[in-house]
Amino acid sequence: MERPYILHMFTPSRQMSPFDVNMAADAGYQIIVPYTDVSIDDVKGLTQDTIFSRGPKGVARTGIFIGGRDTTLAADMTERALASMFKPFVVSVMADPSGAHTTAAAMVACVEAALKRHHGHHGHHSHHTRGLAGQRVLVLGGTGPVGRIAGVIAAQAGADVHLSSRQGADVAQSAATATGQRFGVTLHGASAGDPAALRASLADADVVLACAAAGVQVLSAADLAFATRLKVAADVNAVPPEGIAGVGVTDDAKPIAGSAAARTVLGIGALAIGNVKYQTQHRLLVQMRQAERAQVLSFAEAVAVARAVLAEAAP
Ligand SMILES: NC(=O)c1ccc[n+]([C@@H]2O[C@H](COP(=O)([O-])OP(=O)(O)OC[C@H]3O[C@@H](n4cnc5c(N)ncnc54)[C@H](OP(=O)(O)O)[C@@H]3O)[C@@H](O)[C@H]2O)c1
Repeated sequence: MERPYILHMFTPSRQMSPFDVNMAADAGYQIIVPYTDVSIDDVKGLTQDTIFSRGPKGVARTGIFIGGRDTTLAADMTERALASMFKPFVVSVMADPSGAHTTAAAMVACVEAALKRHHGHHGHHSHHTRGLAGQRVLVLGGTGPVGRIAGVIAAQAGADVHLSSRQGADVAQSAATATGQRFGVTLHGASAGDPAALRASLADADVVLACAAAGVQVLSAADLAFATRLKVAADVNAVPPEGIAGVGVTDDAKPIAGSAAARTVLGIGALAIGNVKYQTQHRLLVQMRQAERAQVLSFAEAVAVARAVLAEAAP
């Protein structure tokens, strides 16, 4: 009998996300086992119990998924799992805490595609579009898992990234510093603690990434009037009301009606991003399941896949 595909799913949270369990099943994993309340110190023992029983052939059909809500902890748990294995007993490890890696990857890749279109709209002659390099990016709800990782990915692509918090500049700055240090990029903090602070940050932004909690509008039409150099506004919140006024959930680089910026602002909604997120997560899980050699799949791999998904969709 062929050995079944097994995915061991570790989370420091009390529950494993049903979303991720469904995704694993739809990617062809046959046996999916959640482990909850997993601490960093549990990872070594769980990983070694994962690798030893299946032998060198079986490890290719065995994977570890790391979830939770904390992107730094997920990165630490991934490193701990890798450090607990040795050849030939090495299994693939994928981390996607709270969907943040695949969601942020999809969001940033959609923004890059929209920026290319935006340059096209305005007759930039260079056929070599710059993408996010040199763009000022404001991440609203920047202290959450999606916002932090979106910020890291944008910074790695050369953007000048500012993570904002309702709780003010100090909270924003400490999230930016901790996240930037962990992932080797420079991130800045920005206050969105009051309308004046938010509007001051908006005035400098080329790109806004709305990553706040579900069901909250973080940018009103009145706020948008201050975003005079904005090119692209992306919103991951799919729960009404829309996170950015005027950006519908299915908008896919659609001009925002009545925007105040001198140039067109392209809006990207949560379902447009969610579609790319879904495909990205699916492909990563399938890639992990089918790989002959063990894979490590984190947000860098998610961005590569999200960019590929969009490149295939491009007209
Ligand atoms: N479209 C998709 O495919 C997809 C996939 C996954 C997740 N999502 C969405 O992505 C968003 C971000 O997810 P997440 O897990 O990173 O979010 P989260 O941790 O729940 O919230 C992110 C940040 O939002 C801020 N916030 C919380 N309550 C708020 C409120 N009432 N008003 C304004 N800001 C508030 C908080 O920052 P401060 O307190 O520091 O301001 C928090 O750190 C959510 O809307 C989620 O539903 C979408």
